[in-house]
Amino acid sequence: MSRIKNLEDYSVAYRESVEDPSKFWGNVAEEFTWKKKWDQVLDWNFEDYYCKWFIGGKLNITENCIDRHLETKADQAAIIWQPNDPHEAPITFTYADVHREVCKMANVLKSYGVKKGDRVCLYMQMVPELAFSVLACARIGAIHSVIFAGFSSHALASRIEDANAKMVITADTAYRGAKQIPLKEVVDESLNACPSVETCLVLKRTGEEIYMKEGRDVWLHEALEQVSTENEAEVMDSEDPLFILYTSGSTGKPKGVVHTTGGYMVYTKYTFENVFQYDEGDTYWCTADIGWITGHSYIVYGPLLAGGTTLMFEGIPTWPDAGRFWKIISKFKVNQFYTAPTAIRALMAQGLENVDIHDLSSLKVLGTVGEPINSEAWQWYYEHIGKRKCPIVDTWWQTETGGMMISPIAGVTPTKPTYATLPLPGIQPALLDSEGKEIDGRGVEGNLCIKHPWPSILRTTWGDHERCKFTYFSTYKGYYFTGDGCRRDEDGYYRILGRVDDVINVSGHRLGTAEIENAINLYSAVIESAVVGYPHEIKGQGTYAYVICDPVAIEEYSMEELKKGISSMVVKEIGPIARPDKIQIVRGLPKTRSGKIMRRILRKVAEGDTSNLGDTSTLLDPSIVESIKEGAIS
Ligand code: WT7
Repeated sequence: MSRIKNLEDYSVAYRESVEDPSKFWGNVAEEFTWKKKWDQVLDWNFEDYYCKWFIGGKLNITENCIDRHLETKADQAAIIWQPNDPHEAPITFTYADVHREVCKMANVLKSYGVKKGDRVCLYMQMVPELAFSVLACARIGAIHSVIFAGFSSHALASRIEDANAKMVITADTAYRGAKQIPLKEVVDESLNACPSVETCLVLKRTGEEIYMKEGRDVWLHEALEQVSTENEAEVMDSEDPLFILYTSGSTGKPKGVVHTTGGYMVYTKYTFENVFQYDEGDTYWCTADIGWITGHSYIVYGPLLAGGTTLMFEGIPTWPDAGRFWKIISKFKVNQFYTAPTAIRALMAQGLENVDIHDLSSLKVLGTVGEPINSEAWQWYYEHIGKRKCPIVDTWWQTETGGMMISPIAGVTPTKPTYATLPLPGIQPALLDSEGKEIDGRGVEGNLCIKHPWPSILRTTWGDHERCKFTYFSTYKGYYFTGDGCRRDEDGYYRILGRVDDVINVSGHRLGTAEIENAINLYSAVIESAVVGYPHEIKGQGTYAYVICDPVAIEEYSMEELKKGISSMVVKEIGPIARPDKIQIVRGLPKTRSGKIMRRILRKVAEGDTSNLGDTSTLLDPSIVESIKEGAIS
């Protein structure tokens, strides 16, 4: 076991991983089950980007997640599922159960003609069938593309189309707190625009009546009755794509980040075990949704590769009350708990009465991910949830990195509030200045880049390798550029400062401002818009939209009506997660003579800081700034 137990182990591992990455990762990879061993550990080029790990290796990741544990852990809990309704009984799936369910699901996929390399879209809430579907795809070599069930039918359709998916798996409707979300209805709307989809498998979760299209829609429980409980795993190459996951960037259209099999497997298990110091018998809970990378790597793959017990929760933190997380921790004696700063802040605002009635003594490690954590939230988490005895691992990483990159190792790396601390073994960060020069030394800030590949780096963006090269490897020649600003302090510790591009992070959800603007501009009354983020107490960042409307529409409708229309358009195009927090109707946007919007000014106004807007002399019409300031929403 390549387990780091103390700082000395970490230093040795880190040094070895930098001195000879192939030797280091080759050793880690020995721990897995390969059908054929690799011929070469690594081949790469960041200047004309490609990257391959464990070249020539053959494997199936699900044999490593499941079959490999059957001999010793068949009866051990693999997945514990807690339903939305606290009165509905939880279900425990042992490794033997997961094996059976995944094999059955794999056979269903095959029986509907899904083959190795085909794309399957999963649009489901947090039910065990979602995890089984992910693994069933991997078992037969189909490429899964999970789409967060909060996205709208338009967003879903564009992702299904981009991936040219053959099958969609969904559920009738979803319970979400006190609400129900009509998943199948959303899928129906999007499938009108997606001729590539031949079959839609539907899980009966709530029993709500739904439309089933003949020849296309199939009840999952009926299909599962027809198949065998055994399935021989497909032989996959290390570099065969495992999944596509869409994520937002600076430009309009979300891109499909592609991860492959061998490197992703090696890295997610390694980081899971080390960062969380997961021990045999522990119960681990990550509150993310499998619709995001955190759920892929650290609800499904990492924990199962490690032979662990992973908890899945269908509901939300605030229903039926704000003590739900703490209740679940005490009920299942959770040992490692991993959540987002936005959830911590939201629950912190509810006071301690919902916390102190629950026994949290099982906790050993606390984790956070997705956005910078502010000092107050860090302290509250440490004191009131961890009772000052649980190290906090503030894990910095991205959809593109596949696994954690800069993070403390629990109980090993001394932590410092708001710092992601030190790079994990294999990760070589660099801070670059605007001229593209590396900034050495300590007590410095720059744009965070990575100098050398790690096993779970993205391999491409689906269907458009040029876009991958351009987005990540062209800003700084020879480096992977993360899009984040970062500080390295006097101790050599890293602190993530947030995005330096036009990406905002709202409640830990990554959104492109251009994507929101495109949605707003589709509304008939809108001429032009500009979206920026601003600091938000709970969400981390909020969405502030400046919108120019057509004078005729302004005559005809009230401001409230216009704002409502704009808001609904964003929800329709992207989903409720992108709904603007503030909309200001403006008569113009601050543009330079060359027509470029000066976003710096818009950000300042949105922050409520108009005292010093900097140099506005290059603006075409400086009076616009005054009118925007006057109409600003506080
Ligand atoms: C962006 C990536 C990694 C899974 C969830 C988000 C921000 C992520 C941290 C952290 C400060 C963080 C960065 C990054 N971010 N973790 N611990 N501290 N910022 O994945 O949706 O791909 O977003 O989230 O800005 O670039 P994602």
